[in-house]
Amino acid sequence: MQILKFELLPELLTGSEVIDEHHKEFIMRINKFWGKDLSCQDDLEAYLAYLLIYAMEHFNFEEAIMVKTQFPGMAEHEKAHCQYFDKMDELRKSILASGYTLENKEYLYNLLSDWLTSHIKIFDISLAEYLRKNNFQNLDT
Ligand SMILES: [Fe+2]
Ligand SMILES: [Fe+2]
Repeated sequence: MQILKFELLPELLTGSEVIDEHHKEFIMRINKFWGKDLSCQDDLEAYLAYLLIYAMEHFNFEEAIMVKTQFPGMAEHEKAHCQYFDKMDELRKSILASGYTLENKEYLYNLLSDWLTSHIKIFDISLAEYLRKNNFQNLDT
């Protein structure tokens, strides 16, 4: 299976500097993950944590912004984060149990592609638009 590197394409920029910075960091971590030789179990576990812990921190970060700004679409957005996180956690268990098989690799790739092409475009961009329209600044949470 050929793994393509992910990029933060212009259509994925939300217009919120803090959110885009997080997405950049997450994509950098994904690409680093692909680039590693993960045949050693310790490396695999360390790199999975490196990827998934950041995903969780990023979701928590956006959720804190939504609470702080009383974003009306918060419930659906949070639900989408939970679904990703549950799928990632299932995958982590499957990888740790049966190894980094081609099937697991494909599943991870599809999950991350979906996050980039669908979640950011639908959910994160609408959050960023709300922040912009309502002039929310200084959103360090
Ligand atoms: Fe999000
Ligand atoms: Fe996001």
